[in-house]
Amino acid sequence: MKLQSVRGTHDLFGQDLFKFNEIRKIVTSYAELNSYSELQTPIFEFTELFKKPLGEQSDVVLKEMYTFKDRNEDLLTLRPEFTTPMIRAAISNNLLNNLPLKTYGIGPMFRRERPQKGRYRQFNQINFEIFGSNEFMADLELIMVANNILNKIIPNSEFILNINTLGTRENLILYKHNLTKYFNENKNKLSSDSKDKINSNPLRILDSKYEEDIELSKFAPSIHEYLSNSEKEHYDNIKKGLNFYNISFVENNKLVRGLDYYCSTVFEFKTNNLGSQDTLLGGGRYDGLIGKLGGPDIPGIGWAAGIERISMLMTHINNDGAKVHLAITSKEYNSHAQKIINFLIDNKISYYWNYKYNLKKSMSKANSKKTNFVIIIGEDEFNNNFYSLKKLDDGSQYKLKINEIKSFINDKS
Ligand code: HAM
Repeated sequence: MKLQSVRGTHDLFGQDLFKFNEIRKIVTSYAELNSYSELQTPIFEFTELFKKPLGEQSDVVLKEMYTFKDRNEDLLTLRPEFTTPMIRAAISNNLLNNLPLKTYGIGPMFRRERPQKGRYRQFNQINFEIFGSNEFMADLELIMVANNILNKIIPNSEFILNINTLGTRENLILYKHNLTKYFNENKNKLSSDSKDKINSNPLRILDSKYEEDIELSKFAPSIHEYLSNSEKEHYDNIKKGLNFYNISFVENNKLVRGLDYYCSTVFEFKTNNLGSQDTLLGGGRYDGLIGKLGGPDIPGIGWAAGIERISMLMTHINNDGAKVHLAITSKEYNSHAQKIINFLIDNKISYYWNYKYNLKKSMSKANSKKTNFVIIIGEDEFNNNFYSLKKLDDGSQYKLKINEIKSFINDKS
């Protein structure tokens, strides 16, 4: 049997891993700048946690969850998303005593989707949430943080913010009712996929990719007819704020998002450079969800971005490798080598050695890795207590005492 990874999963190394780590660094720095604290949750949770909030009719719950029975018959699920586990963790650990709670996380999610470019069964998300505020400034801040992070990671890529509002939960219930009525009346014009959604999830028909659904949706009732004045004001304030921050956006009144818990503000950052998996980041408000999960009745809003998708748009990352290679010509000089290794570590100068007592092989490795310096440790160096330092770009070589090495490397780098 040929050893291979499970379909839809991938190993991370080399460039992809450099990119992943760079993303993590940038996300962490923006989280700190905007005072979001990290929250890590387990990879698996009780299945119940996901079922209701995500919508028992949603694709994620119906087809995509990795669910298994534990030996004691507990039903467990690998987390398909971060929002519900974060809420669970905030409730379980009494973190909601001090509001608002601003939190972020980075980690793997699991969905049994059909793998394709930009769509995996194990993928990584960046996730930001604010629990306990219904101020429009919270929505604006989250979108601004998302925009800053994307601009920092992929400054040369084109992406555009799509926004919409779904109104309050009550408005949404009425709207869904009328939407169901409209689609039922025009059932024969819908794709067969959408026919199945009329009663269970009519909102999803609005963002269907089938031509016939798009055509019919053009004449469907619009959520905007159902908005209260305060919802309109909330939405207008966000748009004004986006203009103030110079964040370009399009209003997309067909944007509904895939999970059931959304209401009010929803948004996505989309790109044309990734084919059909074109959403880099998506989120919105989920007022009512925290209460539904057993917490206090407080509002919430957040977003998640797919690291793999963002990573595909990143430019090459230079990783220079070790600054210094060692070339040790014989075992007899190991003690002299140990001294310099200790010194390099103490001075935070990265080093590499190939464990070969062979000058030629060590030099050729250093050349192939495009290292700046090689420290040679041979008979003369050992007997006379110095180190030969070769600068690879011009081939010059110097005899140095251990205490001269740091400033020499700093000067010549
Ligand atoms: P989502 O739209 O399901 O939202 O996922 C967010 C992002 O995760 C997507 O825009 C995409 O970049 C990435 N993603 C999703 N599925 C896959 C996949 N199979 N392979 C690769 N990347 C994927 C949520 O998960 C919500 N929890 C977001 C949120 C947070 N809403 C409020 N707070």
